[in-house]
Amino acid sequence: MPPSPPNLEKLAIDGGTPVREKLLPYGRQSLDEDDIQAVIDVLRSDWLTTGPKVGEFEEAFADWVGAKYAVSFSSGTAALHGAAFSAGLGSGDEAITTPLTFCATANCVLYQGATPIFADVCGDTLNLDPGEVLKKISSRTKAIIAVDYAGHPAELDELREIAERARALLIEDACHALGAEYRGKRVGSLADMTIFSFHPVKHLTTGEGGMVTTEDARLAEALRRFRNHGISSEARDRQESGQWFYEMVLLGYNYRLTDIACAMGLSQIEKLERNLARRREIAGEYARALRDMTGVVPDGDFPVRLPATRNGVSPAWHLYPIRLNLEALSASRAEIFRALRAENIGVNVHYIPVHQHPYYRARFPETSREGMFPIAEDAYERVISLPMFHAMTAEDVADVVRAVHKVIGHYAIEREPVHALASKGPEQRHV
Ligand SMILES: Cc1ncc(COP(=O)(O)O)c(C=O)c1O
Repeated sequence: MPPSPPNLEKLAIDGGTPVREKLLPYGRQSLDEDDIQAVIDVLRSDWLTTGPKVGEFEEAFADWVGAKYAVSFSSGTAALHGAAFSAGLGSGDEAITTPLTFCATANCVLYQGATPIFADVCGDTLNLDPGEVLKKISSRTKAIIAVDYAGHPAELDELREIAERARALLIEDACHALGAEYRGKRVGSLADMTIFSFHPVKHLTTGEGGMVTTEDARLAEALRRFRNHGISSEARDRQESGQWFYEMVLLGYNYRLTDIACAMGLSQIEKLERNLARRREIAGEYARALRDMTGVVPDGDFPVRLPATRNGVSPAWHLYPIRLNLEALSASRAEIFRALRAENIGVNVHYIPVHQHPYYRARFPETSREGMFPIAEDAYERVISLPMFHAMTAEDVADVVRAVHKVIGHYAIEREPVHALASKGPEQRHV
């Protein structure tokens, strides 16, 4: 059978017509009239910050994820800082984490004067590899910080066991994973502390905002104090009980989430099921439409590798990261990225490995050398996040699929069909 004809449509980057007229972002919020009304109602109320909406939002959120306690923060980053503090991280301590994440995951360890120790990720999910974590455990390990990359839960059971044996806490950075399920349970009660973000590209937004959930009353108390200057009582309780006296019992911060934001969050919780279902639908559509560009063997001759889903897991699909099989393409990731942008598809890259950022290279030269985390580094060279947000329409999804076929089809190196390769034996296959 002759190879299929090359894609003849002229790319927008070469002067052709773009797939879309206007840029489709990789992620964005969707707010309904009732979310807006909820905020307006608070603006007309007595409390703009730390009023009744904070507790209501925390309670509803804890219920939704199936956790005992939820403590809100002004951002996911502040929530991570609260978790690092509450885990007791301090000077001389270490926390093991993934390099393939947003820098805030590792920065929270530095905020506490402790040292982040990176361990490489698994090739399929790009989540922290428990085997690699084991190699990094030391007497100084106080926490393991796993990230549910793209919304796929980390190997929580294995990591929990490793953490318990090391007498360390398991912190789950679930900023991508609100609503994700692991072995039949929503993430939120499966680690010692679970962190969420309410940035506009997430499943639920409060503008900026974050949450820590936990099953441990003492951790919840430490988190509450930490986000409020280390003060032992709250202004609203003092006002309502006619008290003025308070004490600062530890060094905390002002990391409080406002009533304005909490009202928005509370209103958005109502839509979470629907938002999640839509993201799962989009992931299914991408997988069906792009399957013909993927191989039956990982890293085979096909130009694209789709995100993997392990058994017993239902991802929340914050991102849809595809990996380019650069050996089967005649362009670099940078060129393909630019070509997709020219088609007005707002692709993105998640993530530059944290140890490769200039700050980390300068501060930790010995543990930031290239090649130390080969799977994460290789994934970074190949990864492109396709647009993924719950308000995407069927046309938006179709545009992305069309653009990926157009661009990847253009750069795909023509090869023999798979059955011909298979009959030659593995040693002759291109990998
Ligand atoms: C994995 C991860 N952790 C932490 C954060 C920080 O969250 P925030 O932006 O709410 O501070 C993000 C933000 O996108 C993230 O993706």
